[in-house]
Amino acid sequence: MNAGRTALITGGSSGIGEAYAAHFLQTGGRVALLGRSPEKLEQATRRLASDLGWTTDEADTHIRRYSADVRDADQADTVVSDVIHAYGHLDVLVNNAAGNFPCRAEDLSTNGWNAVVQIVLNGTFFYSRAFGRALIAAKLPGVILNVVASYAWTGGPMVVHSAAAKAGVVAMTKTLAVEWAEHQIRVNAIAPGPIADTGAVTQLWPTETAYQQVLESIPAGRLGTKEEVARAMGWLTSAENTYLTGEILVLDGGRSLGKAAFSPTRPSPKSTTL
Ligand code: HXC
Repeated sequence: MNAGRTALITGGSSGIGEAYAAHFLQTGGRVALLGRSPEKLEQATRRLASDLGWTTDEADTHIRRYSADVRDADQADTVVSDVIHAYGHLDVLVNNAAGNFPCRAEDLSTNGWNAVVQIVLNGTFFYSRAFGRALIAAKLPGVILNVVASYAWTGGPMVVHSAAAKAGVVAMTKTLAVEWAEHQIRVNAIAPGPIADTGAVTQLWPTETAYQQVLESIPAGRLGTKEEVARAMGWLTSAENTYLTGEILVLDGGRSLGKAAFSPTRPSPKSTTL
């Protein structure tokens, strides 16, 4: 499915980014993982190679590593150009890197606000711009997938920095989808809910009580898995999916849907006469 294709994944050394990399490699593609920590990038490469039964040489042929901070616009241009030089072309960009921590708005410092907004909003723009410029110049088609969260449009407590930044990414997704459709560059987003075994869950719901509360908020009765998200991301970025652009796919077991009127756990009223 992805034979001959290449993908650059920011935040690719753990969690959903790594799971998407595994999916892309298993389906025949080559990846470039981007993260801040060189050690985490090496560890992720070893895990991916081990799962695929690859030697170090095979891993190096299929997995490039880039230690970079998505807040640095010049690095974005350098990384995108290096991936294209090394692999010959770049087909998919996944803007997955995110910073987040729960904090009440009145307690949030300027640096805290800037850190999250610059990683999520600026980082997504810098990598999208580098990708778009390169592909438009080369007259090649491509796909961008942005990872957002449904609180970008519902709102939610304790994440004003992340919600505002992700709302910006939703607007960016739709705007670039329109601007770059004529260049055959599709731009979509995915909004995963709480996903098991990710930094987001340990960071945002660190205690047993918080974890139980989030579990109870999911109609499906369980957290999603990284593999479920990776498969959906694979569909969104697949080469066969040629007409879908400007869309946001929510993948959260029903968590963000309205449930204010009646609780499904309450007995149904026998009849109501109005
Ligand atoms: C309060 C905090 C804080 C915290 C950082 N800051 N962590 N404030 N509570 N827990 C403040 C610092 O005090 C500092 O401000 C400023 O933020 C910058 O912090 P630094 O550590 O110096 O910056 P930096 O190294 O750039 O990294 C900050 C960070 C990083 C981006 C927040 O810690 C991070 O990436 N953490 C978690 C990453 C993560 O969980 N990613 C997954 C997100 S998933 P002062 O004023 O003190 O200088 C997601 C979607 C979830 O977002 C959707 C679920 C449904």
